[in-house]
Amino acid sequence: MTGNGQASGKPWQAVALTLFPQMFPGSLGQSLAGQSLAGQALSEARWALESVDIRAFASDKHRTVDDSPCGGGAGMVMRADVVDLAICATQQKTGDLPLVYMTPRGRPLTQSRVRALAEGPGVIVLCGRYEGVDQRVLDAHGVEEISIGDYVLSGGEVAALVLFDACVRLLPGVMGSDVSGDEESFEQGLLEYPLYTRPAEWQGRKVPDVLMSGHHKNIRAWRREQAEAATKDRRPDLWTEYALGPVDKDKT
Ligand code: ADE
Repeated sequence: MTGNGQASGKPWQAVALTLFPQMFPGSLGQSLAGQSLAGQALSEARWALESVDIRAFASDKHRTVDDSPCGGGAGMVMRADVVDLAICATQQKTGDLPLVYMTPRGRPLTQSRVRALAEGPGVIVLCGRYEGVDQRVLDAHGVEEISIGDYVLSGGEVAALVLFDACVRLLPGVMGSDVSGDEESFEQGLLEYPLYTRPAEWQGRKVPDVLMSGHHKNIRAWRREQAEAATKDRRPDLWTEYALGPVDKDKT
């Protein structure tokens, strides 16, 4: 059984703690037919999104949320006391939800972490700006630090939207077909095989014969070969893990 909305009667709950609440739901709110799975699901209340303005928890008259880094260096750091108030107020409303902070210093986001979050009741995502957040508030709350890739964004908001999108499309009733989920990139530890549709020939380029053969066993074998070749070529890290075979997690 999943821990998300379908079981409890509550929608999967996404919360963004941010200095830019107007960035949400952003593209995830587009709900005109066929435009966005997440937007459609939001309008159907399969999930709910709240953005919390961190600046509302600043106490001085200038509503200060940042200060210069201890030890020197460029830019500004988000203050522990202000972020703490935002986290505590949010947790009081939502109850127990995983709390994550989007940062290039975090562990890489994986499909298996996405799946686990989607199976739970939701997630609170702290979005950093400036140089980042005072480490003490992250440590005090045991925040999980997550990166969406080895590049630096101007803030955590776009990364939070990425995380929400990846989770929401896995919620029951959102993606339409569970079969397409099993075959997509990462679900088997491999990149997905290449896709084709009609016409059978376009600008002199043909759809591979096997895909037009109707021979399901051969099609499956061809797709597996293609998935393995792409993974080997593009993602040697994934290939090594795949080639090692399933790891018994109890023994590691
Ligand atoms: N904030 C800025 N860059 C980021 C990244 N690569 N991943 C997650 N959050 C970020």
